[in-house]
Amino acid sequence: MNQASLHRLLMANAKKKDPKILFDQRLATNLTLIQQLYFSLYPEETNLDNFQKLLSLLPVLFKERPEHLKLQDISRIEEGNWYQSEKIVGMQLYVEHFNKDLKGLREKIPYFKELGVNFLHLMPITTRPKGESDGGYAVNDYLKVDPKYGTKEDLLELTAEFRKQGIYLMLDFVVNHTSNEFSWAKKAIRGDKKYQGYYYTFEDYTIPAEFEKTLPEVFPETSPGSFTYIPEMGRWVMTVFNSYQWDLNYTNPDVFLEMLTNLVKLSDQGVDVVRFDALAFLWKKMGTISQNLPEAHTLIALFRMCLQVVAPGVILLAEAIVAPMDIIKYFGVDQKEGNECEIAYNASLMALLWNSVATKKTTLLYKSLLHVPDKPKDCTWINYIRCHDDIGLGYENHLIQELGWSPDMHRKFLLDYYCQHLDWSPATGLMFMYNPKTGDGRITGSAASLLGLEKGLALNDKSLIEASISKIIMLHGITLAFGGIPLIYAGDEIGTLNDYSYQKDPAKKEDNRWVNRPMQDWETIAKLDDIQSPPSKIFHTLKRLIAIRKNEPVFADHNNLSLCHTGNDHILVFERKLASGEGLLVLSNFDQNPQVIETSWIKKLGYFAQGDPVDLVTENKVSINSGLLEIAPYQLIWLKKS
Ligand code: GLC
Repeated sequence: MNQASLHRLLMANAKKKDPKILFDQRLATNLTLIQQLYFSLYPEETNLDNFQKLLSLLPVLFKERPEHLKLQDISRIEEGNWYQSEKIVGMQLYVEHFNKDLKGLREKIPYFKELGVNFLHLMPITTRPKGESDGGYAVNDYLKVDPKYGTKEDLLELTAEFRKQGIYLMLDFVVNHTSNEFSWAKKAIRGDKKYQGYYYTFEDYTIPAEFEKTLPEVFPETSPGSFTYIPEMGRWVMTVFNSYQWDLNYTNPDVFLEMLTNLVKLSDQGVDVVRFDALAFLWKKMGTISQNLPEAHTLIALFRMCLQVVAPGVILLAEAIVAPMDIIKYFGVDQKEGNECEIAYNASLMALLWNSVATKKTTLLYKSLLHVPDKPKDCTWINYIRCHDDIGLGYENHLIQELGWSPDMHRKFLLDYYCQHLDWSPATGLMFMYNPKTGDGRITGSAASLLGLEKGLALNDKSLIEASISKIIMLHGITLAFGGIPLIYAGDEIGTLNDYSYQKDPAKKEDNRWVNRPMQDWETIAKLDDIQSPPSKIFHTLKRLIAIRKNEPVFADHNNLSLCHTGNDHILVFERKLASGEGLLVLSNFDQNPQVIETSWIKKLGYFAQGDPVDLVTENKVSINSGLLEIAPYQLIWLKKS
């Protein structure tokens, strides 16, 4: 049982208690764990005073939490795992690209309502350096709203409105690094030893050279290496991402305390889910790749256990874009099970779906999904197709090999397929951060462009256009049904194509992830009544699928998903099931040709027991005469047990 469930049990009959008494109860419940986690990072012999500081900080942070959020915290504990509900559908967006600023965003609430979206991830809105800022992931201050988005009051008004309208808000906490303009970095540059100790700084290159032997490069083209020399400071600083993003040194207990304070204050603005950015990188150790280290997990659990005491209604999302077996660990294992992040990006599913599109086969998808253990029951996924980042080819090599493919050549094929190196491929993607030293590369591009809509429209090729629309719907249909929070990337709901305007902006042109950070196209949205246009077909179908999802309790995530084997390598089928016996089969065909599957097993599962079942996507009954079910190219079926 995780700590959140324990808090729920202890809450019984506690409803009318003073929130402070409940805080004390939560602290007592988590204290042993907090202590163990803390001393395993910061040895007890030398850190008793620091631990005392943490214990004094928690009540102060609680006192400062707004009263209405304290009440919301209590009802969230009572409610249980709200984030596993079938009623939640999310969207990720850049505020300035969506509708100018925070006020503009508020005006668009009716758009979210129309589509059925009630969970928003807003990309960073805090202050950042002028010029390059990694889209705001270089943070100048965790709590200051960048004036281009509005003011702190605008944010508070927005979060109040979201609460009123039942919209959940997710914001980033860029926990691994600050910008080089953050107040701590500035003091470090001026020679302040205390703040130099907030980062990994070194007077010469000896230690960085040792680190470099094993640290992989995140941005090899634009920011090779993981250290930057700062002449004004006369020291090297660790910068694993861009040279202007300084890695925080969590071996220093003061950094943890300051960042915990920032985390709680961010939550106090009315945030429901905190996206822990790049959390795999939180702990560094020479001689390792400094990703996914056990200490990083301990640190995350420590953040989690403290936040839970102060603001138990707020949960964490793991942004760990790492190998499948490593992602699942961010839910916490052993003693930490369910006590790290409640949600994680299902980056594995995302990357595997793109693999299936290119290969037209689902074999690696099945193998990989089966290879990963079930997640803890209180946790859930964010399922998505595209986001603001590149698509990394993070597959397990041994599984590729088991299929008789060479991992290197397979990855090369995927890069060629998506990045315009194959004439016959419908995709118009771009290669991101190709590393000639390793042959590694990643892929950027919008979902629609990667799936052939851009090429189809350019060539005025009707069948290519139709195929791309079907693929866009099929992939979204899978993420809507998979179990977890589906997160639509703003613009994908209308099939937005690549945006090449970044190439003219000096602060963006080196980073082609900007090709998929388009302006929301309100002109197109105004014309969605023209039901024949591709944007309209996509929008109206997704809107319908969202409404169906919200109406089917079987889509709530209770680890109630099982993969079904069909014997046909082009097909993906999984079943969602309730304990009551209700069930829904999700079928999709990744091939350009119609495919058939044998159906006796579907009958055995009881789908035809009460007559022909309905495909919720088309609203047609599905009958099987020959014993075979035919699935059209890129068709999505949601077959409901009648
Ligand atoms: C995350 C963000 C990405 C950013 C990186 C560094 O991976 O999604 O956009 O570049 O963190 O903050």
